[in-house]
Amino acid sequence: MPTPSPSPYLPFGENKNTSWYGRDIISVKQFQRPDLEYIFGVAHEMRGMVERIGTFNLLKGKILANLFYEPSTRTSSSFTAAMERLGGSVIPINEVRYSSVMKGESLIDTVRTLECYADVIVLRHPETGSAEIAARAARKPIINAGDGIGEHPTQALLDLFTVFEELGVGVVDGLTITMLGDLKYGRTVHSLARLLSLYNVKINYVSPDILRMPRELIEEIAAKGIPQAEYATLDQVLPETDVLYVTRVQKERFENPEEYERVKDSYVITPEVMKAAKQDMIVMHPLPRVNEISVDFDDDPRAAYFRQMEYGLYVRMALLAMVLGKA
Ligand code: NCD
Repeated sequence: MPTPSPSPYLPFGENKNTSWYGRDIISVKQFQRPDLEYIFGVAHEMRGMVERIGTFNLLKGKILANLFYEPSTRTSSSFTAAMERLGGSVIPINEVRYSSVMKGESLIDTVRTLECYADVIVLRHPETGSAEIAARAARKPIINAGDGIGEHPTQALLDLFTVFEELGVGVVDGLTITMLGDLKYGRTVHSLARLLSLYNVKINYVSPDILRMPRELIEEIAAKGIPQAEYATLDQVLPETDVLYVTRVQKERFENPEEYERVKDSYVITPEVMKAAKQDMIVMHPLPRVNEISVDFDDDPRAAYFRQMEYGLYVRMALLAMVLGKA
């Protein structure tokens, strides 16, 4: 990654937004363009600080509860790393197997317990709307780390930050973004499409018929004047694509395993397939991948998915500092 200075984002003084102190982060619907500029400006600073000094004491003495009812590698460990790089500490509750949830404790009671000990709670839960329910019950900020097939707002923020950092801050207006794979159950694409609709982009959706982007979402985005088109194959749109956002078929959301088997390998990105794409585009993936991107493509400079994970650390550092009143 290139070294990040000087900041291409607005200087903090011009765009200082202190209103995030104590707030929940539940949906990308909470953000407007100036909020994004602000968050990415802070994230860019965090990147510089991590590269220069690694760990620093902005959130010294603060405690994060990481409450995960679904599996996670990147989201949980990047929030842990983010908190620890800012000098704070973490109560990890992974997969709730060893917690009182197994004794039948409700989400609300669990959240009310954790907020007695922590200053902020990161929550991943299989039910859509769960983060909002938790936020209504809690006094401390709740950060939604994925609510079923609903939203994954911090992922969408890091995804957009990746586009800014990789392709340039000024260029998002005018880009063509193609989302590929499981657009029905993939919460990351739901959040990202909403967030992108704040810009003048064109969005293509490529998926098997049974995994198309939900109608309501397409209508919501169309109402903002964003051109969108749906396809069953990638070849028509790959040559015009600036950002190819690949997703995993979400096996765990299928009721019928045979249906999953039928669609799981619908698309595979290989060096051969990518010959038809531009040279200055990027390929993203929230990860984990299964088969949808061949490892043979990993060394291509357009493969941005490993860099994308690192950008996630800086965005999550920024969000924690903001909701805890330190940015
Ligand atoms: C995604 C998720 O959990 O929605 N993973 C992540 O947070 N990076 C994508 C996925 O599981 O496919």
